[in-house]
Amino acid sequence: MKKLKNDTLIRSLLRQPTPYTPVWLMRQAGRYLPEYNLTRKKAGSFLALAKSPALATEVTLQPLNRFNLDAAILFSDILTVPDAMGLGLYFVEGEGPRFERPLRDAAAVAKIVPPDPYGELRYVTDAVSEIRKALDGSVPLIGFAGSPYTLACYMVEGGASADFRTIKSMLYSEPALLHRILEINARSVTDYLNAQIQAGAQAVMIFDTWGGNLSHAAYAEFSLAYIQRIVSELRREYDGARIPSIVFTKGGGTWLEAIAQTGCDAVGLDWTTDIGKARKQIGDRVALQGNLDPAVLHSPTDVIRTQVANVLKSYGPGSGHVFNLGHGIVPSTRPESVQTLVDAVHEFSAPLHA
Ligand code: CP3
Repeated sequence: MKKLKNDTLIRSLLRQPTPYTPVWLMRQAGRYLPEYNLTRKKAGSFLALAKSPALATEVTLQPLNRFNLDAAILFSDILTVPDAMGLGLYFVEGEGPRFERPLRDAAAVAKIVPPDPYGELRYVTDAVSEIRKALDGSVPLIGFAGSPYTLACYMVEGGASADFRTIKSMLYSEPALLHRILEINARSVTDYLNAQIQAGAQAVMIFDTWGGNLSHAAYAEFSLAYIQRIVSELRREYDGARIPSIVFTKGGGTWLEAIAQTGCDAVGLDWTTDIGKARKQIGDRVALQGNLDPAVLHSPTDVIRTQVANVLKSYGPGSGHVFNLGHGIVPSTRPESVQTLVDAVHEFSAPLHA
């Protein structure tokens, strides 16, 4: 194991002391960066970009070349897993992801199996190794996957959805069928994340983007139970280092206690949660990641600085906070605003770690 030059992210996720609060941003590589758009054009499409380890490495590093970020996140997508199951992922300009063959009945579900992370998903593990080499120990690399329920939303709906009518009909009318999909997804994500760890991911994050659309009872049964299963089977150590895990349920603010009980090291918060209150609730057991409203980045510099200071102040002094947005950066964000945010986090947080 080679020692990291900047290990503030890993230390914060493990609630160990750091000189300042580390920061990275969901979707830190993406369409708000002109250099990303150039590389994407060169690749021909988002999927071609994600499936080329060399180009995925290039765009992973782009935000780090501009900003003083404390972590890199693998450039890929959560939908690589159902794509590898043969569902036929494609993107419609301006409308987001779609599947050619969504899962609508038992016959379709019977045909899917967990993909081999070193087979159909080899381009991902190869990208992880290549990015680790390129980072050369500067900052840690975060690997990620979608939660079984969030993946199922896309697999069953066949794409983005306004009301999630198809998956919710399955959930209430054919729960056993949805459970079968979730079991396959949980197995797939566990193997996928462990393969990313083996390839060099130094922390892993589970994105449960749609868990927040479930009822209280359904969240526990159809989303969190499977996240818990994954967390319990993740490699906690690799190559002599602890590999922290982060669980993020967007809209999960009322379930923080339950999320913390999965055994994860950190809980991601969206911007609707009061991070100070969350710390009082679960901060003695897990680190917290978040949670600035991404819309703040459309404000003038002084407003961004004030809003960053408010999040830091709300969490308060001491370790265990990883600064992030409450969800991904939107494409209309000015890169200069990200610079302002990153610098403000470092500047304002240092006194909180004295
Ligand atoms: O954070 C990063 O910088 C790493 C890369 C990353 C992407 N997708 C790249 C991407 C990560 C971590 C994801 C996760 C992801 N993908 C999630 C969970 C996180 C979240 O945002 O809630 C979800 C739900 C997806 C599915 C997905 N992929 C959608 C809905 C879309 C279209 C939305 C959009 O912004 O157009 C994608 C495409 C996608 N994934 C893009 C990027 C940079 C945009 C593709 C493009 O260049 O056109």
